Amino acid sequence: MIQPHGGKLVNSIVSSEEREELLKRAKELKKIRLPLYKIRELENIATGLFSPLEGFMDHDDYLGVIRDMRLKSGIVWTIPIILPVEKDIMNDIGIGEEVALVDLNGEVYGELRVTDKFSRDMELEAREVFRTTDERHPGVRKIYSEEKQAVGGVIRLLKRLNYGVFERYRFDPQETRKMFEERGWKTIVAFQTRNPVHRSHEYLQKTALEMVDGLFLNPLVGETKKDDIPANVRMKTYEVLLENYYPKDRVVLGVFPANMFYAGPREAIFHAICRKNFGCTHFIVGRDHAGVGHYYGTYDAQKIFDQFEPEEIGIVPLKFENAFYCRKCGSMATSKTCPHDAEFHVYLSGTKVREMLSEGKLPPREFMRPEVSEILLEYYTERKDASE
Ligand code: ADX
Repeated sequence: MIQPHGGKLVNSIVSSEEREELLKRAKELKKIRLPLYKIRELENIATGLFSPLEGFMDHDDYLGVIRDMRLKSGIVWTIPIILPVEKDIMNDIGIGEEVALVDLNGEVYGELRVTDKFSRDMELEAREVFRTTDERHPGVRKIYSEEKQAVGGVIRLLKRLNYGVFERYRFDPQETRKMFEERGWKTIVAFQTRNPVHRSHEYLQKTALEMVDGLFLNPLVGETKKDDIPANVRMKTYEVLLENYYPKDRVVLGVFPANMFYAGPREAIFHAICRKNFGCTHFIVGRDHAGVGHYYGTYDAQKIFDQFEPEEIGIVPLKFENAFYCRKCGSMATSKTCPHDAEFHVYLSGTKVREMLSEGKLPPREFMRPEVSEILLEYYTERKDASE
């Protein structure tokens, strides 16, 4: 089994025996309120999905990650995982203090031992992580809306988030590792997605599946931007696709309970590392991975892997060219395998697909399986009815 990032799978979920006592104690502690997307990060640290992180970053890790894509230990890490707090709260708590981490309703989810308090450099953060300070970029807009102060420290998790309809697809890294082992899989390719799976995605997954033992279809279900298709609708598309077009014994469907940053190249590394923690050996990186608008070059998210020694990342990126259906080949292809002109290629942009579905039209079956299109059409029709 592949080693987790940094060598050890973090587990900071308190045992049921300890929980009662700690929950009682938490009532006496000062509280930091976390929005849902930060509670998710808290939980992802605790389950080991973000190994080797054991808490929210201190200033040294924060700066190291922003400037050099490394934690102070030297381990590669590309996205800051920090806990922004209001100024008053920051002034009120001291280094070494234990604080309770609560949601916006005051429900306790965890605790944190404060090891650092610092100010963020928003512009540097945006420029380095997102390669732009343009506030139209959803990731930049998000961080600019956050507090400028942050506290760092080691966490423990006291309560799990309820993922509702996704619960049955939610597995901690310990569980996925066990699942892969039980299936006898030595090589596992992970596929990140925040979209309904279309034929190009399927092509990438199945091409990889020709060479490895299993596929971990791992759609992101954390926070995404408003015009992305909601995760519950996407989940139906994955289910119908697996039911009809995939060999059941070679695929595991499990959700990736992280937020989308839209940080393109840096997020590709982050995505790969998390999937290594799940126990995957390979990770698919296609065109404009985790990109948005025109902020990143089509293959920047592949090129960034060359900035590290392969063993520093540990999971193998499988890099794919832009895939499409070619009418002349009569199959899916990329420019690496198809000699024909673009006029024979069927590929629709996300905007075009949304447009077609809003007008009640199904995208061509060469682009998207009809079973998937039907689910999306239903969603668009319901949405339209609701807004009328
Ligand atoms: S992402 O934000 O999660 O990357 P998306 O769900 O669209 O967005 O993509 C999932 C994966 O498929 C990414 O690795 C992306 O690069 C890849 N991908 C999406 N469409 C294509 C395509 N037409 N050709 C090649 N790779 C693609």
